[in-house]
Amino acid sequence: MTTRIIATGAYAPVQVITNDDMANVVDTSDEWITQRTGIKERHISSGENTSALAVNTARQLLERAGRKAGDIDLIIVATVTADYSTPSVGCIVQKELGASNAVAFDVTAACSGFMFALSIADKYIKAGMYNNAIVIGAETLSKIVDWSDRSTCVLFGDGAGGAYVEKSETYGIIEEEIGSKGELYDILTGGYTDCANIFNGKEKEDSLWYVNMNGREVFKFATKSVVKSVERVLSGAGVAAEDIKYVIPHQANTRIVDIISNKLRIPHEKFYMNIDRYGNTSSASIPIALNELNEKGLIERGDKVLLTGFGGGMTWGTMLVSW
Ligand code: UT7
Repeated sequence: MTTRIIATGAYAPVQVITNDDMANVVDTSDEWITQRTGIKERHISSGENTSALAVNTARQLLERAGRKAGDIDLIIVATVTADYSTPSVGCIVQKELGASNAVAFDVTAACSGFMFALSIADKYIKAGMYNNAIVIGAETLSKIVDWSDRSTCVLFGDGAGGAYVEKSETYGIIEEEIGSKGELYDILTGGYTDCANIFNGKEKEDSLWYVNMNGREVFKFATKSVVKSVERVLSGAGVAAEDIKYVIPHQANTRIVDIISNKLRIPHEKFYMNIDRYGNTSSASIPIALNELNEKGLIERGDKVLLTGFGGGMTWGTMLVSW
């Protein structure tokens, strides 16, 4: 018995900000951003918060899966940019769908968040506790990006993507792993809130609220951790790299994906990329790309698809799926 993705969905704010638009905000250029990252444009919220993006995705998932709100057992949203500390985005999605029989919560693993959420859903389903789940990665990174820091603000975008998963006796998740290396947590941080209160007299310090990243260290971590993780998952499944139809990597930087592709000896054409149009949407990046691949009809029943990502924490996650 396993867990199968029976529908995918995605939603991004309509406002599109190009690299030229970014050059009006900070000292950068279309040439620098394109060459160093592969990004050409990104969607930026005009006011919709993370839950709005997640709810739109969830509605699409329900419709495409042909299921009713009351059928949903579990709702997991991966995000580092929730509307509130409480309630979770998951609970807001539950309310908006009217999914009264579900249990809903959020998980936080930055850009690996969707992999963590899918892994958790898979475990509940395999344990026989639930039969299905809605799993979503949703972010409005624009609210925690420092729009005066050119080394980070050009990279990120807003969006959401997700999957409706169900218990399956045939196709589905074959092998997966998630991992973390907390000793490196400070190479990528964001959303810090200072412990200031009336009794300690501390002033709230705003600067650590914004995304702060040592890009080169994250780059090194990404290329190492993803390669090792994919190798472990493929060997655990006894599946050869050449049997993979598509790899859906976290969309952080085309140069990172080029290195991963070379090290794994998986041809570049097999890596599905849409970073040029979305930038890095953190936990939403893998499900947005998966949904696009699915909508284009590029994957067929039984195809082997590999999802793999890395992110703040530092964290990583890889999943091999028989579609
Ligand atoms: O989801 C996980 C999140 N993050 C990542 O995956 C990011 C991983 N890291 C990266 O993708 C890359 O390290 C970056 C794209 C962030 C940066 O690329 P890089 O090739 O490592 O550039 P760098 O940081 O070494 O900077 C090179 C130069 C610097 O100028 P100097 O010191 O050589 O004069 C920067 O100040 O590029 C400059 N620079 C920029 N120039 C124009 C940095 N950002 C910009 C910019 N426009 N936006």
